[in-house]
Amino acid sequence: MGKVKMILDCDTGHDDAIALMLAASHPDIDLLGVTVVAGNQILERTLNNTLNVCDHLGLDVPVYRGMPLPLVREQFTAGNVHGESGLDGPVFGPRTKEAEKESAVSYIIKTLMKSDGDITLVPVGPLTNIAVAMRMEPNIIPKIKSICMMGGAYGTGNMTPSAEFNIYADPEAAYVVFNSGVPITMMGLDLTNQALATMDIIERMEAIGNKAGKLFGDMMRFTLISQKECFDLDAGPVHDVTAVAYLVAPEIFRMKSMFVEVDINRGPCYGRTVCDTIGNSGKTPNARVGIGLDLEKFWDLVEENLRRLD
Ligand code: RIB
Ligand code: CA
Repeated sequence: MGKVKMILDCDTGHDDAIALMLAASHPDIDLLGVTVVAGNQILERTLNNTLNVCDHLGLDVPVYRGMPLPLVREQFTAGNVHGESGLDGPVFGPRTKEAEKESAVSYIIKTLMKSDGDITLVPVGPLTNIAVAMRMEPNIIPKIKSICMMGGAYGTGNMTPSAEFNIYADPEAAYVVFNSGVPITMMGLDLTNQALATMDIIERMEAIGNKAGKLFGDMMRFTLISQKECFDLDAGPVHDVTAVAYLVAPEIFRMKSMFVEVDINRGPCYGRTVCDTIGNSGKTPNARVGIGLDLEKFWDLVEENLRRLD
């Protein structure tokens, strides 16, 4: 099987950074480019964080500036979770890497249109970039092999009782994507909250002894505090990493096909991914939704690939 050709679309925060590290290091992944969107923090900060991680670890991948605001709703960020910078914890030195001149949406459209339909989009932040690209050039839709995303939940949300952050930050964008007809793999909170970077995991990655392992530790030690304060979790879930891991190790995940639609009605369920878990909607499933994962194999995968980095 050839390499997985992918574009990572992120709102770099802590788990996005680890997803980037995995995507950039795994031998079976061809990371074509990284597009950045506002989400965890405002775009200037998520872009700066992405460039800092690439610069710090010597990741030679083009980075593109994306949408600074959601399609319709007022901007909603998660400074309480990821800190003022969006990536509180690690301290980076002076940076040389800059974003490409081309916009993220233009890059996504051009790359997909000249492709053989073999590119997977991996959005791990709000879906604004993806939705705008689809609306600007609908002909990209049949060119997208699949979308493997972190977002949503079939259970309760984390930003509201109904909505998970990536969807809640731009529900209308998520509505466009889930109605596009592109095959979707959805790693929602029900799955991703199982991937907790507890202290033993942090110490395991720090023990690798390279910059990547230390960066993992510096980031996830910060989330030990913020995730407890915000969600009463005993550690930081590496939500976004599961979307990349699925592409190269689907066998460690348990998935279920479901019909998923996004509620864009302003109210208590605004931004909810309404998941037909038992098939009683009578609608054809449009997504494979993560249910469970083999945590031992997941963390082995993360460690093995952090070792490949500087
Ligand atoms: O709800 C978790 C998601 O929100 C993750 O992608 C995290 O990075 C934040 O963007
Ligand atoms: Ca994210």
